[in-house]
Formats: sequence, structure tokens, C-alpha cells
Amino acid sequence: MTVYLVGAGPGDPGLLTRRGGELLASADVVIVDRLVDRRLLEEVPEGATVILAGKHGHDPSASTTQEQINALLLEHGARSEVVVRLKGGDPFVLGRGGEEVLALAAAGIDVEVVPGISSALAVPALAGVPVTHRGVSQAVTIVSGHNGTNGDVDWAALAASGATLVLLMAVAARSGIAAALVEGGLPPGTPVLAVEWGSTPAERRVATTLGALGDVHLEAPAVIVIGAVTDLAGLTSDQPR
Ligand SMILES: C[S@@+](CC[C@H](N)C(=O)[O-])C[C@H]1O[C@@H](n2cnc3c(N)ncnc32)[C@H](O)[C@@H]1O
Repeated sequence: MTVYLVGAGPGDPGLLTRRGGELLASADVVIVDRLVDRRLLEEVPEGATVILAGKHGHDPSASTTQEQINALLLEHGARSEVVVRLKGGDPFVLGRGGEEVLALAAAGIDVEVVPGISSALAVPALAGVPVTHRGVSQAVTIVSGHNGTNGDVDWAALAASGATLVLLMAVAARSGIAAALVEGGLPPGTPVLAVEWGSTPAERRVATTLGALGDVHLEAPAVIVIGAVTDLAGLTSDQPR
């Protein structure tokens, strides 16, 4: 009996790993994150139990809490042979996968992690944006914008770092974050690319600047990439699938 934390990738079913696909095809129970593309569930065998257990960042009433998810993992992990916990992107990138491993390990339930393609890297890549590019940016920082400027992120230090910034969960707080980055020294004209629903048929790309980020229409889920590498967007011919 094992619980597998499987990274589902950013959306396009073609971006699920082969190992993830094999496990889905042999699952007895699949516990699915909110952002996981539903097309992936076509891999699940008939008769398997599928539980939709997602968190909605700013709407707790529409959410399954992390405690409830952990309880589901423990319940099914203790009695089913193959339990797949299908998580968006990579389970260990801003996905609370570590907490799920801790809860399962503490209960003595076998747990394995199957890495996935994180939206933080894949969504920019599909838009033609290399998050690092020789002579432009030698580092990339993936950061949560969930708590905006009220959390423990040092936005001034990030502004001064010279790294490409990739913001997840930052749509709601983007105005304050942009202002903090400008205050920290990034020019308001710094180019920004935001991509909603990357790698899916609903994908929408918005090119803007840091100074205007708060004014453009943007809906979650989106990856927001800040830095000169975004000037390279649009040269490739990937089609959202
Ligand atoms: C809780 S985090 C999980 C990140 C995930 N573990 C990963 O590696 O991609 C959810 C956030 O990831 C971003 N995200 C995930 N999938 C996305 C997609 N297909 N397009 C745009 N943003 C996405 C959004 O910022 C969203 O609010």
C-alpha cells in the first residue's frame, strides 16, 4: 500500500510524465487537486475512486482544507493498494507536498514522489521565455504572491537580486507586489509576461510592464514572469493544447 504524490504538470495531458501516467492507469484511488486538468482523469481505470479535493486560494468556502486532504490521504493510504495524490505542476513547488509526505510518514504509510513539470518553468517556456538567458539573467526565483506584501517575502531583496522573478498565486496581490518591487529598485518599465491557464486551450498571454501590472485585466491561475527575459516571448510556435 503506497500513496504516490504525482505531479500532473501544468495542464496539457502530454506534459504528464510516463511514470505519472502508469500510476494513474493502475490507481485504486485518485485524490485530485483543483487545478489539475480534468482530461488527465481519462487515464484512470473504470471503477477507481476519484476524489476532487482542491484548495481555492481566496475562497475557503470552496475549498477542501489541507487537514481534510491529509485525512483523506491517511484514510485511503491505510486501506488501498495504489493511491495517487495528483497535484498540479510539481508536488514540491509551492504545493504543500512536503506537508503531505510528513503526515503520511508520521502515520507509517509508504509514500513516493513522482516529480512533475512545474508551471513555474513550463508556462514561461511554452510562451518562448527562457527563465535564464546568457547575458540577461543568470538566476530565477520562484516565489508565492499569495500573501502579497503582508507575508515574509523580502520583495526589496528580490528586486535587487537581478534574478528573473516567477510569481505564482500572485494575481490578487499583484498591485502591491509590483509597487514593492519598484520601491526596491526595479524600474517601472521592467517587462512582464503574465500567462493565464498556461498549456491549456484557455491559455491567455498578457505582456505588460511592472508599472502597469496592477492595471491589466488578469485572472487566476496565472504565472507572472518579471524581467528582461520576457522580451524573448513569442518567437516559438507552441500551441496551447
Ligand atoms: C498552489 S500553486 C501550485 C504550483 C504547482 N505545484 C506547480 O508546480 O506548478 C498554484 C499556482 O500555480 C500557478 N499555475 C498552476 N498551473 C498553472 C497554469 N496552467 N497556468 C498558469 N498558472 C498556473 C498559478 O499561479 C496558481 O495560482
